[in-house]
Amino acid sequence: MGTTETKVALVTGSAMGIGLACAKAFAQAGYTTVLADIKEPSEQALELKEKGFLAESYCCDVSDVQAVKEMLDWVSTRYGRLDAALNNAGIQTPQRPMAEITDEEFERTVAVDLKGVWNCMRYEIQLMLKQNEGAIVNTSSQGGVTGFPGQAAYIACKHAVIGLTRTAAIDYAAKGIRINAICPGVILTPMAEELIRRNPSLKQELLRDIPAGRMGRPEEIANAVLWLCSPQASFVDGHALLVDGAFSI
Ligand code: NAI
Repeated sequence: MGTTETKVALVTGSAMGIGLACAKAFAQAGYTTVLADIKEPSEQALELKEKGFLAESYCCDVSDVQAVKEMLDWVSTRYGRLDAALNNAGIQTPQRPMAEITDEEFERTVAVDLKGVWNCMRYEIQLMLKQNEGAIVNTSSQGGVTGFPGQAAYIACKHAVIGLTRTAAIDYAAKGIRINAICPGVILTPMAEELIRRNPSLKQELLRDIPAGRMGRPEEIANAVLWLCSPQASFVDGHALLVDGAFSI
C-alpha cells in the first residue's frame, strides 16, 4: 500500500460541471484529489497541478463495476487511504413522458445514476473501513425529493440515491464513516445548459419558480460538499442536503 501525508479525495464525474468545481475545492483545501470521469480528465488534473495543487486523473465508467473496483484498488495502492469521496457522475434521460422512455434509456440511466453510486460506495467503504474513518457524499438532486416533468428515470434514480445514502449511513455510522447526499437545485453546468437548449422556454420558467431568482453556481455545491466531508460536519450523517435557492420549498 502506498502512503500520503495529505488527505485523499475521489470525485467521479469531475471532467466538468459540479464534479470539476468540487474537485477544485478539495484540491484547494489541501486534499490530494483524484478526478475520475468517463471522459479522460487529465487536462483538468494537469491544470490543478500547474497551480501547485495535488491532483491526479483516472478514466472510469462508474457503471462498470470491475472498472470501479480497479479504480479503488489503484487509489489504495497509490495513496493507501481515502478520506472523502463524492459520487457525482450522472446523466439525464431525454425529456419525455414516462411511457415514451425506452427500456434502453431507462437501463442506462439506472446503470450510471444509481448503480454507479452503488458500485463506487461499495469499494470506497471497503477502503475506509481499513482506516476506521471517511466521508462519502452522493450527488442526488432537488429532484430526489420532488418530481420533474419528463425525467421519470432520472428522478427515480435520484430518489433511490437518497434511500441508499440513508441506509448505508446507518450501516456504517458506528465504523466512523459518514455518508450524506447533496441535492443541488438548478445549477448552471453543461448538463443544465443542454436541458435548456432542448427546451428554451424552460429557462424563464425556472427563473420564475426559483425563489432566489437565479440558477446556482457549481462552486456553491462544492462549498456544501466540502463542509459535509469536513470535521465541522462530524455529526451530520444520513442527511440529504438541499442546495437549491429555496426551489423545493
Ligand atoms: P455534467 O453533465 O455537466 O457533468 C457530468 C459529468 O459526469 C461529465 O463530466 C460526464 O462525463 C461524467 N459522466 C457521465 N457518465 C459517466 C460515467 N458513466 N462514468 C463516469 N463519469 C460519467 O453534469 P452536472 O450538472 O455537473 O451534474 C453532476 C451531478 O449533479 C449529476 O449526478 C447530476 O445528476 C447532478 N445534478 C445536477 C444538477 C444541475 O442542475 N446541473 C441538478 C441536480 C443534480
